[in-house]
Amino acid sequence: MLANMDHEIYTQLAETKLLPLYTATDLSCLDKLEEILINNEVRFIEVTFRSELAAQAMKKLSASGELTVGAGTVRSLEEAETAIENGAKFIVSPAVVPEVIDYCLKQDIPVFPGTATPGDIQRALAYGIKVVKFFPADIYGGLKAIKALSGPFYDVQFLPTGGIDKNNFIEYLSDKHVIGVGGSFIISEALILKDDGATASAKLEELVGLLQSN
Ligand code: 3PG
Repeated sequence: MLANMDHEIYTQLAETKLLPLYTATDLSCLDKLEEILINNEVRFIEVTFRSELAAQAMKKLSASGELTVGAGTVRSLEEAETAIENGAKFIVSPAVVPEVIDYCLKQDIPVFPGTATPGDIQRALAYGIKVVKFFPADIYGGLKAIKALSGPFYDVQFLPTGGIDKNNFIEYLSDKHVIGVGGSFIISEALILKDDGATASAKLEELVGLLQSN
């Protein structure tokens, strides 16, 4: 089965351009998180399986239907199943994980496999997947690598993550092969906890401002 690249998640990502990567260790932050994302029109979030609260956080953030919630750090079929049961609408993996990809394609759930090399990208293409995560972007050559990979993989779009920050995200997004950028620089639990979201909100507003003025 080949991936459905007409899925609306891709259009949404291409419009929003920012995919916040979020690890939940305190569910009490989630209302504030949702409020900040909605206020800034960033209606996307990737909740990682890097904490035991991942599934609960996905469920809670999906409840209002205001956000498009996805699951990140999905390394096993079990995690993919749990994520989708708990409201995840897309799956992000740090690598090309065949059982995760097969499951997502059967469910018509967009999956972003992590890639860093031509071999990885070729394996994703075998499933018809033409939008891949590029990770860890900064270690594997950043934008320079994306430009080089876009030669042979001219029909692939990249979602770079890893080392993306306020100072380089605009440059990444200036490349037509970059559909969006992801990472923990967009919002974090630690920042929300600091002062009930005031700093997190101001920082996101700044990022969105930079995005709009470029
Ligand atoms: C990922 O899984 O996408 C990365 O761990 C994100 O990296 P960052 O924390 O540097 O944004």
